[in-house]
Amino acid sequence: MGRLDDKVFVITGTSSGMGRAMAIQFAKEGAKLVISDISPNAPAGNYIADTDMRPTEEVIKSLGAEVVYTTCDVTKQEDVKNLIKTAVDKFGKVTNVVANAGIWRGGVMMHHESVEILDEMYAVNVKGPYLTCQEAIKQFLRQDSPGNIVVICSSTSLAIYASECAYCMTKSALPALVKAVALEYGPKGIRINGICPTWVKTTLSHELYENEALRRETEMFIPLRKWCDVGDVANLATFLSTEESSFIHGTLIPVDGGNILSLGEVPPSFINWDYSVDKEI
Ligand SMILES: NC(=O)c1ccc[n+]([C@@H]2O[C@H](COP(=O)([O-])OP(=O)(O)OC[C@H]3O[C@@H](n4cnc5c(N)ncnc54)[C@H](O)[C@@H]3O)[C@@H](O)[C@H]2O)c1
Repeated sequence: MGRLDDKVFVITGTSSGMGRAMAIQFAKEGAKLVISDISPNAPAGNYIADTDMRPTEEVIKSLGAEVVYTTCDVTKQEDVKNLIKTAVDKFGKVTNVVANAGIWRGGVMMHHESVEILDEMYAVNVKGPYLTCQEAIKQFLRQDSPGNIVVICSSTSLAIYASECAYCMTKSALPALVKAVALEYGPKGIRINGICPTWVKTTLSHELYENEALRRETEMFIPLRKWCDVGDVANLATFLSTEESSFIHGTLIPVDGGNILSLGEVPPSFINWDYSVDKEI
């Protein structure tokens, strides 16, 4: 028996990164899945963490799970409607939706950012989850059934980081989405929660991760001194998708090794990280 037997998941942005990791973990737990990405040619696999670079659909089929891939650009309402319809046509219902697809364009100060970049990120990171939640809720109401939504937010949904103003603005919108949906649809048994990871080892962040000096600097802001693994996010997403978390609703949960605690710190080089201790109590 898997923890997700009899559940039908719809997930966005599953070719790579966290979307891929969640889809594979859900499949291992017995879920049926409709997976999706902006294009069937979106690079498959997790650039940093995977040795198996087969398309996500192929990996899941090799596990013996039921899966359908559909192309869905989350910025297009018709694509999102079709994504939900695919699940209903194939499996007869939708029980769980994960709004994961997102992009990052950052690394410069605000006055160097272009309005095109703001528009692009706003479309994928804000309008995308909004449309995904909206179509999910319509289907849960149509079915007159409970439903479960997980939104992949970011630590930048909870605090602001320098050099990524536009990205922070888009991710800061997601707590409002999670809380509004929680308030409006909780009475119908529709549960929603947001996951807020810090730097995760994925294709999105590989340039930063592969720059050793930068990676070490970012690690100094994480009390557990390491980046997040996609599995850390998949584990929480699985828990939030089961009845084990049945009274957790409308929350934003950090998966960040304590990163949020250290945002007020001075730059690491200002601090003498002295772990020496008296040997005697
Ligand atoms: N990697 C990090 O450090 C990090 C940290 C916090 C939050 N996040 C968030 O996690 C989510 C997943 O990111 P990731 O790190 O796994 O990135 P990723 O680039 O590895 O995967 C994102 C996937 O989304 C797809 N995608 C992009 N635009 C799309 C669109 N318009 N429609 C549908 N699919 C689209 C991409 O093709 C890709 O397969 C994003 O929302 C991201 O903002 C990432």
